Parts: sequence; C-alpha cells; structure tokens
Amino acid sequence: MARDEGKVWLVSYALPGEVVEAEPRGRQGGVAVAATTRVLEPSPHRVAAPCPYFGTCGGCQLQHATYTHQLDLKRQVVAEAWARAGLRLPPDAAVLGMEDPWRYRIRGEFEAVAEASGWRFGFHRMRSHAVLPVDSCAIHDERIERALPAFARAANELRLTGLQNLLLTVEPAGRGLLWRLRVNSKGWLRDEYAHRVAELLPDAALLDDAMSLDFWDMTFRVRSDTFVQTNYRQMLVLYRAALDMLQPMPEERVLDLYAGIGTISVAVARGCRSVTAVEENPRAVQLGRLNARINSARVEYLPGKVEDVLRGVRLGQHDAVILDPPRAGCEPAAIAELVRLGAGRVVYVSCEPSTHARDIAALVRGGYRVRRAAIVDMFPQTYHIESVALLERS
Ligand SMILES: C[S@@+](CC[C@H](N)C(=O)[O-])C[C@H]1O[C@@H](n2cnc3c(N)ncnc32)[C@H](O)[C@@H]1O
Repeated sequence: MARDEGKVWLVSYALPGEVVEAEPRGRQGGVAVAATTRVLEPSPHRVAAPCPYFGTCGGCQLQHATYTHQLDLKRQVVAEAWARAGLRLPPDAAVLGMEDPWRYRIRGEFEAVAEASGWRFGFHRMRSHAVLPVDSCAIHDERIERALPAFARAANELRLTGLQNLLLTVEPAGRGLLWRLRVNSKGWLRDEYAHRVAELLPDAALLDDAMSLDFWDMTFRVRSDTFVQTNYRQMLVLYRAALDMLQPMPEERVLDLYAGIGTISVAVARGCRSVTAVEENPRAVQLGRLNARINSARVEYLPGKVEDVLRGVRLGQHDAVILDPPRAGCEPAAIAELVRLGAGRVVYVSCEPSTHARDIAALVRGGYRVRRAAIVDMFPQTYHIESVALLERS
C-alpha cells in the first residue's frame, strides 16, 4: 500500500519498504490500483518469482517474496484486521507454514479458451475475464498439470464446442482423478470424451462421480460439487490446530457449523458423544451423511442455513461449537444465535481475516473471550489467509 498526498494506492508486485515505478491500473473496490513496472530499491525479502506466468496470471500474488516473508506479511495482515475490529491478536498466535510451499493444490479450476491451435486450459488474467492458457502451474499437484493437455487434446480430437471450464481434483493417496467439464453445447459426446481422456492418461483412474479423501484413519467421499480444502497437507495441520483448541471431551455434544461433507464433524465425533452438523448445500449434506456412516461416526446433519437452523436449536444442547464459514463470514443472525446458545467454547476457522475479526469482535461483545489463535498457511504464494481462534465464555 502506498500513499500519494493521502490518497491510497494498492500496488501489486511491490513489497513493503520498496521504491518502485508503477503504472495505474484503474480502481478496485473503490481504491486506486497500480502494478509495479520497475523495482528501484528492492526489499531484502525479494526473490525472483519462479513461475513464467507470474505478473500476468491472477492466481499468485506473492511469489516475489521469500516464503518466510510471506508468512510474516500474513501475520501482519491478520494483526491489522484484528486491530481494526478492536481486538488484539494473541502475541503467541503461531503461523504454521509449509515445509515445501509448492505443488500443494489437490483441486484446480481451469478456464477453457479456443486458440487457433485448438482448445487449451488456463486461468483468468490478473483483474480480467480474459483467459491466459498455461502449460504449468507450480502450486498445483503435478498430476493435475500433467492431465490438462490430455483433456484439451481429447476435446480437439472430438471437435467439441462450447467448452467452459474444467475442475480437477486428485486423490492425495490414490490414483483417482475426479473431473468435471462444463460444456455449453447440447448432446456432447461425454462418454467418448471420457474414454479418450482415460486412454491419454493411463496412470490415472478417471472418476466423474466421487473420489476418496483419506486422512488419519478416516475415509471420505468427495464430489466436484462439494467443498474440499484444496491444500491437503495443510488441511491436516489446520484440523489438528482446530481440534487441539476444541479439546472435545467424551461426554460432550458439539455443533459443527458450515460443515461441508463432514470432515471436521467426523474427526471431532471420534472424541465426543455426538456432533450436530449444519450445512446448506444439499449435495454436501447427502455426502456428509454417507461419510458419517462410512466412518461409523455419531454425526447428525441439520440441513439449511446456519442463521435459520440455529433458531431451532435449544439452549444447553451443545457444549462446544466449531465453525468454518465461507469468506463472507457469518450473518449477524448466526452470531446472535451463537451468543444465545452460549456454548462454553467456540473454535472459529476462517479463510478471510477481515470477516473473522469482525465476527470474533461480535462474539466478544456477546460475552466471549479470545483464548488462542493461529494462522495456518493454506495458500502459499497467494494473498489468501486462513486463521483459527478459540473463544471461551467469560
Ligand atoms: C469453507 S467450507 C467448510 C467446509 C468444512 N468445514 C470443511 O472443512 O471441509 C464452508 C461450507 O459452508 C457452506 N455454507 C455456506 N454458507 C452457509 C450458510 N449460510 N449456512 C450453512 N452452510 C453454509 C458451504 O456450502 C460450504 O460447504
């Protein structure tokens, strides 16, 4: 962030403390934005970005900073978000980074683009809807990168039209490759296409319904239309941190809000009496119920929006709550219901520090105190930040 006579500029590809030349690139969310064109005084934390698409692709924003510095910046962003909400990030809040911060994504969504040579897949360019075709992406699992040309080649061979986007998810421990291609043309040759892609990818087990996600000694079914943590290695770190904060007791009943396909619910249920999971996506609820059965876990799903479902939950039914909403955080009505229920402990997992801090501040006003917090780097090389906090009823 730079200031010009008080006016704020967000300057991409610069680092704090640097002197750079930058070109204005319009406005974003009401703030003037610019992109670095030349670095005059580099930060000691600057490195050469390894990806050839860095600066053009909209996916990564921080490849030009050492990984240690990325983690420091993320801590600073979280501390500032908490300060703006009137809170103090606990000084002992750990930042849990990755040993190898590359090739971590097990799920990738790629846009299709028709070029003179045929179909290719890629990402949106920085701040644009135009598609940048890519041959590599160093934050995705290598199997995803290797699969892309096969999906494009099969589409070209079968002369498919109207390709929109491709979602690929790989099994962390198996050979399964779950795929979903959105095509805007009626009656496309789906089976022939799948057959040809499978021929081109003999090492993968091509799946179009569901795949397995295994961790600790549990197994889950995952589908393309349900949420999955994209960084599998850090998902384990995040869940461990959240469970360590929650410390479920054998006699306790726990609420898991925004539960998705039940990965957290099932992990928590192993250490307590029962878990009530709340989730609005009917596909995730269906899969979550199946996942609970597969793992013999005492998880009951209440389908619907958290802000609505909680109104029907009686006081004193639950001892602790864990929640993991999307970036927008919780609706005020959901926070009000949490305060009404008054569970002894709340563990709040979030992928957006500003809404995390806002909601924690509301819970603090409702009678909770922050006990612990941690930042788990789920998205190295990008500006996305995951954090988790433990609150207790004071
Ligand atoms: C970040 S994901 C978390 C999923 C799960 N905890 C996990 O770790 O895999 C958020 C989930 O909340 C669900 N969701 C979004 N808004 C919701 C709402 N208002 N009420 C209930 N569920 C909601 C989404 O469908 C998604 O499954």
